[in-house]
Parts: sequence; C-alpha cells; structure tokens
Amino acid sequence: MKKILIISALAFLAACTASVKMAADPAQSDVERGSKLFPALTLSALNEGKLAYESNCGKCHGLFSPLKFNEAKWRKEVPPMAKKAKVDANTQNLILQYVVTMNGAVVK
Ligand code: HEC
Repeated sequence: MKKILIISALAFLAACTASVKMAADPAQSDVERGSKLFPALTLSALNEGKLAYESNCGKCHGLFSPLKFNEAKWRKEVPPMAKKAKVDANTQNLILQYVVTMNGAVVK
C-alpha cells in the first residue's frame, strides 16, 4: 500500500514538472527573434510574460505549450482568454509576446 502511494506521488510530481517545462526559459536569442514582431521586446518582458502566462492561463484547462499553436492561433485566442482570466491589457500583451515569441523557439 505504501509503495502504491509513493509511486502515485512520484507520478503526480512527474506530471507537474512536465506541464511546467513547456518551452525553454526565454533567452537573449529569443529576444532577438521576437523583436522582429515586437520591436520593444526585452528579456525581462519575456520573463514577465512567462510568469503571467503560467499564473493566469492554466486554471481552467492546464497550460498549453507555446509550441503547440502557431502565431495566428495565439493572436486569435489570447484576447478572449485574457478576458476570461481577467488580466489587464498590459498583462495580456506580455502573455501574447511570450507565447508568440516562444512559439518560434527551437526545441532543445
Ligand atoms: C475561466 C477559464 C479560462 C481561463 C482563465 C483561460 N482559459 Fe483558455 N480556454 C477556456 C475554455 C473554456 C476554452 C475552450 C472553449 C473556448 O474557446 O472558449 C479555452 C481555450 C483556449 C485555447 C484554445 C485551445 C484549442 O485547442 O484550440 C487557448 C490557446 C487558450 N484557451 C489559451 C488561454 C490563455 C493564453 C489563457 C490566459 C490568458 C487562458 N486560456 C485562460 C477557459 C479558460
């Protein structure tokens, strides 16, 4: 019985880690790529976007990897979802910049 509990606890932990590890953390190379779309982009804005995405967008359906949808799909989904998540316009923009930029990331 104890063994089963430990195994399910480990499986649960593994599942959590997997859902958080979606795309690599934003790096300077992401800023360079993303700034073609968002000219004022900075590394701290990308990190803020990641944090805002992770803390506001996983409550109803779990976090989708930024890699899962293309730019057009993210641009279509983020505004209505930002309304659902009740975030302000600035946070919505940070989230959009993060998912769109990281969508173009090379998966390592
Ligand atoms: C209050 C619950 C709720 C919150 C918070 C929420 N979503 Fe959603 N999301 C949904 C529901 C329900 C759907 C599916 C139906 C729809 O499109 O309304 C969905 C669908 C999506 C889809 C489309 C998935 C697909 O397979 O086509 C994306 C992308 C998405 N959400 C992103 C986000 C992002 C980004 C945020 C944070 C800004 C967010 N969601 C916050 C409820 C939520």
